[in-house]
Order: sequence, then C-alpha cells, then structure tokens
Amino acid sequence: MQGRTLPVKLWAAYMTAVRSVAIINSILNGIMNPRQPNRKSFSTRRNVYDAPELYQMAYSYRNIKAEVSALIRWFKKNSGARKTPAAVLELASGPADHAIEFAKRGISATALDISQTMCRFARRQARQRSVSLKTVNEDMIGFSLKHRYDLVITMIDSINQIHAAKDMIKHLRSVAACLAENGLYVIELAKHEKEGEQLQDVQWSVRRQNKKLRVVWRPLTARANGKSYKVSLELTADTERGRLQLADVLNVRTWSPKDIERLVKKSGCFRIAARYANFREDVRPSDREAINCILMLRKLPNVSN
Ligand SMILES: C[S@@+](CC[C@H](N)C(=O)[O-])C[C@H]1O[C@@H](n2cnc3c(N)ncnc32)[C@H](O)[C@@H]1O
Repeated sequence: MQGRTLPVKLWAAYMTAVRSVAIINSILNGIMNPRQPNRKSFSTRRNVYDAPELYQMAYSYRNIKAEVSALIRWFKKNSGARKTPAAVLELASGPADHAIEFAKRGISATALDISQTMCRFARRQARQRSVSLKTVNEDMIGFSLKHRYDLVITMIDSINQIHAAKDMIKHLRSVAACLAENGLYVIELAKHEKEGEQLQDVQWSVRRQNKKLRVVWRPLTARANGKSYKVSLELTADTERGRLQLADVLNVRTWSPKDIERLVKKSGCFRIAARYANFREDVRPSDREAINCILMLRKLPNVSN
C-alpha cells in the first residue's frame, strides 16, 4: 500500500508546487506588463533568480554598453593579439546582458547559468534583440565545453556564488580548459569591507517608465570573516497596476581580490594580467572612488584544454 500512496502524495505535492509557481508567475507578469487590467498586491518568499525580470531591473543602473566597450579595450590591450575577441563566454550570466551586448557587436556569445529560468529568459532577451546567443545550463564550478573562447567574464560579484577554496580552484581550471591560447578571464568583484569590518546594508531604487523597484540587501551576520554568510534580499516592485514584494535569503561568500589572487596562483592556470576599477582606465582599485576591482587573468602557456 505504502508503495502506491507515496508516489501519489509526491505527485500531489509536485502539482501544488507547480500551481503556486504558475500563480506567482502570472501575478509577476501582470505587474511587469502594463496591459494587465487590475491593480494587485502580492508578497512572496521565493528564489530571486526565478524572477529574472525583477533581477534584471534591480541591476539595470549599470551602463552595460560602456562596460562591454571597456572589456573589449582591455582585451585588445592584454591579449597580445590587439583585436576584438571572436568568442566570449559569460558565466553565472543571469539575464546575460553583457553576452547579448557582445553578440550585438557581432561577437559569438555564450551564456552559462545554473538556473534554467535565467537561461530561458536570456534566450528570450536575445531573440527580442534579434541576436544569436547560445545558453548552457550548467554549474560554473565544474563544467566542460567543446568550444574555445578568447574571453570569459564573470560580472558583478557573481563569483561569490562559489563558496569553498577547493571549488574556486576547480572553477579556475574549468575556465582555463575552455579558453583559447592566451585567452583572458575577467572577474568583477565589488569593493569589499576589510576583513573583520562590519557588513553594511545596501539599499537602492530604480525607475523605468511607470515602474519603480526598491532593493534592500541586508547581511544577516555582522562580519564576513572570510566565510559564507546569509543575506536577506527584498525587492518591492510598484507599477500603476500593483505591487509585488519578493523576499529571498541568499547564501554568499565575499571574495577579496587578495583571496582570488592567492587561489589563481594555486590553480597553476593563470597569472594576473591587469587590475582595473569602475570600467575606467583612470581609476585604480585602491582609489577611494573605486567601487569595484576588475581582475584580468591570462591563461598560462602549456595549460591543457
Ligand atoms: C547575481 S546573478 C548574476 C547576474 C549577471 N552576472 C549580471 O551581471 O547581471 C547570479 C546568477 O548566478 C547564477 N548562479 C548561481 N550559482 C551558480 C553556479 N554555481 N553556476 C552557474 N550559475 C550560478 C544564478 O542562477 C544567477 O542567475
């Protein structure tokens, strides 16, 4: 009997979960889509990466075009080839805004993300912009791709999704294996608090047409101390059609440039080619106005693919 009821119960639980995700998605679509007639208000606790529209809007304050132009300039300067990369891979790509911008400039672009929802969203974005984008639904810690890339990028602290030093080494080796000879790997790190310093809440708002999104990023621990910690992320989207509040708890690990540089050395695959900040040549990572540290790693010769 147990053998027959368990699958039925599992199926019922699965269907309930599928139905609630469908209801949340319809409300989310309604709020982000101004054609929805009724004003609604909805609060949910769910994975923020399953709400790619909100995620994309939260980080839309960035100037993706200028960032991609800087990446191309630095690639030309540091690759030795002095030409535009032919093939680019974006890791933990989310909506893949950078990969899509590379594709718009005629560069072959691939986006890799562990979330199927994000991969689907990225493909839809690329279709809407009439560019070709390959997506790979994989874990960036350990992956293997047939194609060889000139440039691999991991933007806006997405490297923090890797928690353990051994996984970082595995990640660096996977990246090296899919890079062409002399290929470059760019890691963008936010400028972090010094070791032992108090972690701060970060809040910001973004406005797009008739939509407003407020983002509150709140560490649930006082100090990072080189360990993984939990962060509460709250997104509140307001449009004339309604309000959606989404709350999630993320597990993150903040890697300092020093941590990464130590593991880069240990991996035996790369050396540091350059360090930049703010996607500008006139700001250095140590400057007061630096908001990030962008590490450019060059694959060492004789590292096998
Ligand atoms: C902060 S978002 C990244 C956004 C994107 N890099 C950008 O610049 O807008 C983090 C993304 O990392 C993805 N992710 C988390 N862990 C991952 C992993 N182990 N491998 C690949 N992707 C991962 C999530 O699904 C999410 O889309």
